[in-house]
Amino acid sequence: MITYQEDNRVFKLDTPNSTYMIGIVDDENFVGHIYYGKRLQEAEASYLLRTQEAPYTPGRNNRERCSFYDCFPFEYPTGGTGDFRESCLSVRTAGGHVGAMLSYVSHEITGGKPALEGLPATFGTLEECETLKIVCEDKYVGMQVELFYTAFRDIDVITRSVRVSNAGQEHFYLTKVYSACIDMDNRDFDMVSLHGSWARERHIQRKTLGYGIQNVSSFRGESSHQDHPFLALVDKNTTQEHGEVYAMNFVYSGNFRAQAEVSQFDYVRMSMGIHPENFCWKLEPGESFQAPEAVMVYTDKGFDAMTSAFHKLYRKHLIRGKYKNKKRPILINNWEATYFNFNTDKLLAIAKEASALGIEMLVMDDGWFGRRENDDCALGDWQVNEEKINGGLKNLVDEVNKLGMKFGIWFEPEMISPDSELYRAHPDWAIAIPGRPGTESRHQYVLDLSRQEVVDCVYNMVASVLKSANIEYVKWDMNRQLTDIGSASLPADRQGELYHRYVLAVYEMQGRLVKDFPDLLLENCSGGGARFDAGMLYYSPQIWCSDDADAIERLEIQEGTAMLYPLSTMGAHVSDCPNHTVGRVTPFETRGIVALAGTFGYELDVTKIPEADREQIPEQVAMYHQYNDLVREGDYYRIASYSKNHKFDCWQVVREDKKESLVTFVQVMNRPNFKSRRILLKGLDENLRYDVHFVGDKDAGVKSYSGDTLMKAGILMPNLWGDFRARLIHLVAAD
Ligand code: DGJ
Repeated sequence: MITYQEDNRVFKLDTPNSTYMIGIVDDENFVGHIYYGKRLQEAEASYLLRTQEAPYTPGRNNRERCSFYDCFPFEYPTGGTGDFRESCLSVRTAGGHVGAMLSYVSHEITGGKPALEGLPATFGTLEECETLKIVCEDKYVGMQVELFYTAFRDIDVITRSVRVSNAGQEHFYLTKVYSACIDMDNRDFDMVSLHGSWARERHIQRKTLGYGIQNVSSFRGESSHQDHPFLALVDKNTTQEHGEVYAMNFVYSGNFRAQAEVSQFDYVRMSMGIHPENFCWKLEPGESFQAPEAVMVYTDKGFDAMTSAFHKLYRKHLIRGKYKNKKRPILINNWEATYFNFNTDKLLAIAKEASALGIEMLVMDDGWFGRRENDDCALGDWQVNEEKINGGLKNLVDEVNKLGMKFGIWFEPEMISPDSELYRAHPDWAIAIPGRPGTESRHQYVLDLSRQEVVDCVYNMVASVLKSANIEYVKWDMNRQLTDIGSASLPADRQGELYHRYVLAVYEMQGRLVKDFPDLLLENCSGGGARFDAGMLYYSPQIWCSDDADAIERLEIQEGTAMLYPLSTMGAHVSDCPNHTVGRVTPFETRGIVALAGTFGYELDVTKIPEADREQIPEQVAMYHQYNDLVREGDYYRIASYSKNHKFDCWQVVREDKKESLVTFVQVMNRPNFKSRRILLKGLDENLRYDVHFVGDKDAGVKSYSGDTLMKAGILMPNLWGDFRARLIHLVAAD
């Protein structure tokens, strides 16, 4: 997978269909990026580093160094010495100076993949992957930089990370440290990213890449609703099935920047890392900083192949724990059913009805603790409000268990309400700038998790609730972004570390939680889907996708999310109607079919919904049990996109052995005088025959066609009567 050719000093990293090549050149040992693309046979492309092009040619002409630095394809560019493109690494020395330039010192190739200290990361065994470490230095700064690359044997993925160490005698500050960079020749790329807002997260955006810098970013303290830590550069004619894609995704849940810069010479620099805004990390002699991991995917087979690589990697090499490959219990969450207005009796009434319908777990959302009757108080007071939960938590959980259901609970551990016992006892525990009134958001502040005593105190409160009853699921929420960045415990020259220390502490807390409670099912959430990222997936196998559970809004949200993340990770529920975020009325059947593409659950008052809807629940529950293995573990293909065609949506999952498949078709608005649509299926075995069953359509019967015909000629999807209608088509290979 990874080789080093001593004679021409080239590293070649191979995945099944891609090659990544790095070269070391000249006596000064510059580390250059030679190639990333379709798999190559030989490692002989070091001439592509353009070291012979005048006016500066290393080792032979020292007249015009800038012209070399400013166009050389650096593996890991630094700033301040002549490369005027955006750098990946900036330092400020004790003397206040900023320039740096790296040169190769040594390297090591090992089997497997080392863990990243304190950070989530993908993992793999000696057989599954190999890792290259290139050690570089800047002896003037006294800095050592280790560049890590892991190539996976069976997946077209290369992961990267960087560790910077102070190998000198004096401290210095890291003011920027990205995780990955690719310097390429531009080829008229388009740039694809995921953009959004609260209740409309991760909509796919594609635009022409022009000269200069274009980026997506967050400095909200979390990966955010607005931009996503993902970027792809794709050919103009790249489609789902064809064309080149260079994609990067960040295994990190805090501030980030993902950027493409097209330079004067038509080169493009694609980079990803922690956002440098307000970032400044002090390194004392002997100390190191570990940057998070970035995942890179290259394919020439379009977005379907890119998605497949991310899904395989995350399913096998990122998600952990008991539920990694397991069907999740069908839950009912009381948030949209009751908001803060509930008590034991109300919850038990919901649970009773739900259990009779086949729902398997009750989740008690926000409002069970302290004096929390609405959203303006009590965050941080993680003790059960026994006026509401009359009889106590254990009694409630026991009663729910007696109904044959599991019990889950909501926390927002990172927050503190100004009106809380915790804040009155520890006002300095909130992130704040001394002397400046804090900016409230949803009436709350963020806890300063850079302080170990804060982490311990909150963690212990959460753990003691979890130990007090048979609680099998936690929804970990985070409902505001970070402002007024200041910690009462960090010295002045370490305040710039707070954003990252905060994220590290969240990881530490969640790591502790899943270790101390190994059977717990953890679902992350952040005001819907503001922290739906690969970092959080290391701790929780599922994340609440969006507060917008309207079936039609979900089409775009789930399409964008599923571009990177397996369907098993997408928290998706059948919610109330008219929908609480858009007021839309959609058929109960459609809400069920769209939620089947995720974890599946309910978010409504099952005691109040219309009888005709309630009657459908046992059937939906049965569908979940029938299809969830396929949805969770199958290969996912995008057939049509409502966000592009504005008419209908269609996706497909296919079991790994290709013997079973499920197609989901959603027709948004009906059109008068319209006939059936021809849909070309994907991923089947062309040599197998499949029984095709239009689920719920009793007149259609079961017809049998070959995989070859279904993929090349397609099926006819009848026009459906009414708006917002959906159909499942189930295919099983005939014996
Ligand atoms: C935001 C979440 O996304 C909702 O599902 C709900 O848990 C509320 N927070 C509770 O405050």
